[in-house]
Amino acid sequence: MNILIIGNGAREHAIAWKLSQSKSVKNIYCAPGNPGIAEVATCIPIPVDNIDGLLNFALKSEINLTIPGPEAPLVAGIVDAFEEKNLVIFGPSQKASALEGSKAFSKYFMEKYNIPTAKCRVFTDFSQALSHVKTATYPCVVKADGLAAGKGAIIVNNIPEAETALRRCMKDQEFGEAGAKVLVEDFLTGEEASIFALCDGKNYILLQPAQDHKAIFDGDKGPNTGGMGAYAPAPLVTETLLENVKKQVIEPTLDGMMREGIPYKGVLFIGLMIDNGKAKVLEYNCRFGDPEAQVILPLLDGDLAEIMLNGALGKIDERRAKSTNKSAVCVVMASGGYPGSYETGKSITGHEIQFNSDIIVFHSGTSRNDKNELVTSGGRVLAVTAVSDDFQNSRKLAYDAVKNIHFDGAYFRNDIGEKALKYL
Ligand code: AMP
Ligand code: GLY
Repeated sequence: MNILIIGNGAREHAIAWKLSQSKSVKNIYCAPGNPGIAEVATCIPIPVDNIDGLLNFALKSEINLTIPGPEAPLVAGIVDAFEEKNLVIFGPSQKASALEGSKAFSKYFMEKYNIPTAKCRVFTDFSQALSHVKTATYPCVVKADGLAAGKGAIIVNNIPEAETALRRCMKDQEFGEAGAKVLVEDFLTGEEASIFALCDGKNYILLQPAQDHKAIFDGDKGPNTGGMGAYAPAPLVTETLLENVKKQVIEPTLDGMMREGIPYKGVLFIGLMIDNGKAKVLEYNCRFGDPEAQVILPLLDGDLAEIMLNGALGKIDERRAKSTNKSAVCVVMASGGYPGSYETGKSITGHEIQFNSDIIVFHSGTSRNDKNELVTSGGRVLAVTAVSDDFQNSRKLAYDAVKNIHFDGAYFRNDIGEKALKYL
């Protein structure tokens, strides 16, 4: 197979790395990719939002399977455009991507199909939203309906904070069109987990449950980021809980989408809040998580290319994949200042060390300067993953590797995986 991956982050690096081990894969291309991805794939300089450019490349290069990494091209309809030209692509159609692309749609859908989630009200009118928050119970959550790069959920503690959040969305248009419609949602307490299913419209393969670390500082303090680290499997998600999630969330979701006439094909990422052993859905995403992909893909025992091809063709076979009994921990190294402003162009050393095969250094914000040296080029720079038979050992290996890698201002959390310890 010739494969095209779309994206340029550590998530796409993890996908490319896993595919590079598939017997069924001949050539891997990645648009636009990054220097880490270039070690396992041919990078081509087409941006992720240039759907026509990607389509022409896929036709010309006889691509047998395309895998979009991020949500934006999915919500923009890349799957529909490729399928119209009879190209095989593993992802949801534009309409099915609304599970992530419109929180109002996902709430309507969950209510209709009795999928457990927080109660919410949807508003398109500012004054109606404002009168609602005057009688709301606090804290609650104000959310922009559309894609907002992970910044569209604002937890508010009182009426003035709620009013400010509503203004930011509906009046100041901080999230553009995405904030024209807002949700005001009940606040859920508990611990979060990320569940991933590879779906073919009807059937699915479940991957290991993972946990992200969204806040910038240790102890989940400070502003949210794209994700500062992850581990899998997350022991918080017990066998019983996972069975319940299959029956109460994943299966009704696939069933419901079929009934709506928009079968869901692709990666289904369910963000859960777990309280007292019971799970509610916080959100759906129509793609892998970043950094979750960097821990769940190394644990997958199966040919990812074959699984995704079968997924795209509507014939996923659960028996063709399982997860190993190992555990994986990923520590993200970020530029100092992230998620606020930060400098780039810092030279990165230590990444070239030949670590043991249980360490994988996935790249996100890296590039090469005019001397061909590896330098920082983004907020999250590297996602250092360790895989071993033992969770504690994976944590130690990941942090040992991180300590060998250097760039000016490098920042990482010291407590990735700590929350798992109480369950072990
Ligand atoms: P979302 O974009 O909906 O996933 O929200 C982003 C983050 O905001 C989640 O991962 C949670 O940490 C937090 N969040 C969203 N909705 C709620 C809620 N109803 N209760 C508590 N926290 C929430
Ligand atoms: N790690 C969370 C996300 O990718 O949305």
